[in-house]
Amino acid sequence: MKVLVTGGAGYIGSVVTERLLAEGHETTVLDDLSEGHRDAIPAAASFVEVDLRDRAALRGALAGRSFEAVMHLAASCLVGESMENPGKYFENNLSAGVNLLEETMPLGVDRIVFSSTAATYGDPETIPITEDFPTEPTNSYGASKLLFESVLAWYSRLKGLKWIALRYFNAAGAASEERGEDHDPETHLIPLVLKAAAEGGEVQIFGDDYPTPDGTCVRDYIHIRDLADAHLDAMRAMERGIEGPFNLGNGAGFSVREVIQVSEAVTGKSIRSRVAPRRPGDPPSLVASSKRAREILGWNPQRGDLKGIIESAWQWHLARPDGYRSAAT
Ligand SMILES: NC(=O)c1ccc[n+]([C@@H]2O[C@H](COP(=O)([O-])OP(=O)(O)OC[C@H]3O[C@@H](n4cnc5c(N)ncnc54)[C@H](O)[C@@H]3O)[C@@H](O)[C@H]2O)c1
Repeated sequence: MKVLVTGGAGYIGSVVTERLLAEGHETTVLDDLSEGHRDAIPAAASFVEVDLRDRAALRGALAGRSFEAVMHLAASCLVGESMENPGKYFENNLSAGVNLLEETMPLGVDRIVFSSTAATYGDPETIPITEDFPTEPTNSYGASKLLFESVLAWYSRLKGLKWIALRYFNAAGAASEERGEDHDPETHLIPLVLKAAAEGGEVQIFGDDYPTPDGTCVRDYIHIRDLADAHLDAMRAMERGIEGPFNLGNGAGFSVREVIQVSEAVTGKSIRSRVAPRRPGDPPSLVASSKRAREILGWNPQRGDLKGIIESAWQWHLARPDGYRSAAT
């Protein structure tokens, strides 16, 4: 199949691209490199460098090409920033997505897999979270993703576009020593903890008085390879007429303190931490039920063990301590 991957120079998109190529799909990455890395794009993929927000440039960059499916991962993804600058989030995660649909459907695209998020649920009262929980985002990042899901439902109804939104919980780990997490700024716990292990820095724990077993926030970590595989399952499922949102998580929650403890075991280093005030809008526990993805998409995650996830991230860190700025070993 001819597949366009937006955000394919990013953390998750580059691994999705790797998996598509491994399964023989003709894969093109579209990215403006605003956050991603040229070196993250697998060599066998074609690359189109363009900003999705610029519709005329997008049309020009895609002229003469054809695609059957889109994996839409490009987005702005910082929750805190989304509360200071909502316009950036609605422009990049909503309007740019409409540009993408309008410019790629005439090129043959009839299906899309969209990177959505657990942030669409807001602050649920119970866990595990299923897809029929209320969607009440507590930040404009989650709202922008939820709004684009409803855009997709309208394009399905009015234009026959097939769609699946994958609501990721916390993506983590590295696919290999070649592809791993390298965000700037880095806000995700595991790379921050591993950096502290390597450099002797301190990890901030935002709140230790939550209603969780050890008082720190609980999250559901999913290995990047399992996440990437779900995109291929989703693409196949749309051929069977399946559409809608699907959670992707392990169904197991780990607290911030547990992540630090497991990271100490993996790295063999002691990791200093300090309790800081809670961050506004951080729900105590976010844990997915991915029953629907397993049963309907046939998703079969293989790498749910937290230790294995952290080990893969540590191997990536050792191979590339400065991420993609480090020369490959
Ligand atoms: N990382 C997570 O744990 C997580 C959790 C839930 C959802 N998601 C979603 O998954 C997707 C990928 O996340 P990630 O961690 O790989 O992020 P990332 O920042 O590493 O990748 C996003 C990519 O999109 C590109 N991009 C952004 N705006 C663009 C634009 N206007 N035009 C073209 N390219 C553009 C960036 O350059 C970058 O390469 C995002 O949609 C994010 O919201 C991620």
